[in-house]
Amino acid sequence: MSDFPASLALHERAQRVLAGGVSSQFRALGVPHPMAYVRAAGARVWDADGHALLDYTLSQGPCILGHSHPEVVARVQHAVAEAQLFAGQHLAEIELAETLQRLIPCAERVRFASSGSEAAQACIRLARAVTGRQKVIKFEGHYHGWLDSLAFGVAPAFDGANESAAPLPWCEGIATSAAQDVIVLPWNDLDAVGAAMARHGREIAAIITEPVMCNQGCIEPRPGFLEGLRALCDEHGAALLFDEIITGFRLSLNGAQGHYGVTPDLALFGKALGSGFPIAAICGRARWMAPLAENRAFHAGTMNGNNACVAAAAATLAVLERDDRAALRRIAQLGAALRDGLAEAGARHGHAVRAQGPGPMFHMAFATLPKAETYRHLAGDDRAAYRDFCAGMLREGVRLIERGLWYVSAAHTEDDIAATLAAASRVLGRLEKRGPVR
Ligand SMILES: Cc1ncc(COP(=O)(O)O)c(C=O)c1O
Repeated sequence: MSDFPASLALHERAQRVLAGGVSSQFRALGVPHPMAYVRAAGARVWDADGHALLDYTLSQGPCILGHSHPEVVARVQHAVAEAQLFAGQHLAEIELAETLQRLIPCAERVRFASSGSEAAQACIRLARAVTGRQKVIKFEGHYHGWLDSLAFGVAPAFDGANESAAPLPWCEGIATSAAQDVIVLPWNDLDAVGAAMARHGREIAAIITEPVMCNQGCIEPRPGFLEGLRALCDEHGAALLFDEIITGFRLSLNGAQGHYGVTPDLALFGKALGSGFPIAAICGRARWMAPLAENRAFHAGTMNGNNACVAAAAATLAVLERDDRAALRRIAQLGAALRDGLAEAGARHGHAVRAQGPGPMFHMAFATLPKAETYRHLAGDDRAAYRDFCAGMLREGVRLIERGLWYVSAAHTEDDIAATLAAASRVLGRLEKRGPVR
């Protein structure tokens, strides 16, 4: 018997009509089963059974200001009262692009899209159009959306082998021909990238990376890694692509590229840009955006630049920028306190808890290694234990992402963090012990 009977009943009903009972595959991973929700406001969501849950999923990242931020809602309401979609240019769209141009170092030109997956695809197309080359280097454990061209090496399993894995399709149904144009390398290993570029440099259109490996382990780049990628791309005439779908506006309003001082040729933003409304942005140097500007490469979308999404993004950026970016400072402080508190609670209860990441987002795991610097360092993480922890936290009224990533919003308070740490301590106390971090 589930502790969440209304959610379970809705999930069973959904399974009879929605494929797998969900509209996005990640939602199928929900513990104890995919949950159903009825309302959300600030740092909380209410599930179908009436529980108010403190939310650290933030809808997989977008709700950086918290749910239904009043300024976002008001601006969207005002915008849609005027029009939903011109499918033509409008002032708010141009102003939003100008804001990104001012904030994002590489954003000499901007193009709006509706999801991160298609923005990644558009960046790859631009890199191929400019270079006339086909191959793309991506990294183990990095997720850039569900489309075929980058759906390799997303979560490869390793059996201790040290050589780089062959491009492993992420799931069934991926075009095997797409594998020919993808080289998957270990992340944070500049020597491996240098060797691949020495061998294949003239065939490489782009290197795509998350500037922080957020989706797995929340691993920051080793000193010099991003700079090294920049230098290798310059040397070999390839595009450097930053996938800032998660880092975008969490690490800094100038993106990870502003935070680390390394400017890519192309970058994609999404998630937090729209506070839960489906908008993404392709930003790039004019030279790399030229195939779009000159109508040589095609990127389109009926819904792109629609009034609601543009209004939501404009409101989100305005709030984040206000008072000298106070909201982002607060998110970083609260996130760091939560991350450190979880590590401390783990140690206190004799668990091998690793909590790492910049703070505005971080990753928690029951781990064999105290610090992860590459995807392969995550191989010993006890993912089943973490799912047990998530289930326990849900019963305590805290909603978490089952693969370990935590997001903090501007709506969370010090009291929320304290309550979450108290809940975590209770759950860790009840969980079976798995030994201290080595
Ligand atoms: C780093 C990264 N890139 C791209 C995507 C794909 O974005 P979307 O889900 O909007 O298609 C995601 C989604 O989680 C992501 O985390």
